[in-house]
Amino acid sequence: MLSSIRKVVSVAASQARNFVRPAALSSDKLFVHRDTQDNNPSTPFEFNAANLKRCDVIIANYPKGHEAAACIPLLDLAQRQNDGWLPISAMHKVAEILKMPRMRVYEVATFYTMFNREPVGKYFVQICTTTPCILGGVGSDVILEAIKSNLGISVGETTKDNMFTLAEVECLGACVNAPMVQINDDYYEDLTVDDMNRILNDIKAGKKPKAGPQSGQDHRFACEPKNGLTSLTEPPTGPGFGVRADL
Ligand code: FES
Repeated sequence: MLSSIRKVVSVAASQARNFVRPAALSSDKLFVHRDTQDNNPSTPFEFNAANLKRCDVIIANYPKGHEAAACIPLLDLAQRQNDGWLPISAMHKVAEILKMPRMRVYEVATFYTMFNREPVGKYFVQICTTTPCILGGVGSDVILEAIKSNLGISVGETTKDNMFTLAEVECLGACVNAPMVQINDDYYEDLTVDDMNRILNDIKAGKKPKAGPQSGQDHRFACEPKNGLTSLTEPPTGPGFGVRADL
């Protein structure tokens, strides 16, 4: 009896391990900045002329006295200009432009995982491994293994040629089309192992694979059901449609 209980507990534990995988990066690394040779307050960063103009346009979207609301878009702009990652000197520049204490900018940049605080490869591959993506289609764990084997790297690593960095992330909001990955700004959805390898090989060959659902159902614009729409099938009507005349 005792041995069968032990067996059940041990099977349950091994199954749990399949689902609860430790993050590749330690939590400490997610939040704490340590100066390095490539990332310290003296790391050169200035917005270029075109992006300085963009900063002005973005800031003008917010009321006077609330310029700090532009913090996230300005950090994003800095990251885009800086090959996809955000050195601490860029955070300082954003703090200076928005007249914010540096600490307030650090708080934003360390809270949102969309900001990479270390260099990344030219193509930043983010695979969603949240529950719907694990359960959808072939499963994101299978896709993750395909990526690792295609690129020869593990989660948190960059290929030697600096072309690809692989990150494991939480829900990217495309659960209906699971499993999916985001590569730079593009989503690739309804993935099979063949799709994933084709996409990575195309990028390696300098091609731009078609983004979106890969299931070949061209009628799907984004997250519609595979067999066509089941609701919202008519053009939307204007405001007031259906309002009772007696109200
Ligand atoms: S769970 Fe993967 S996109 Fe939502």
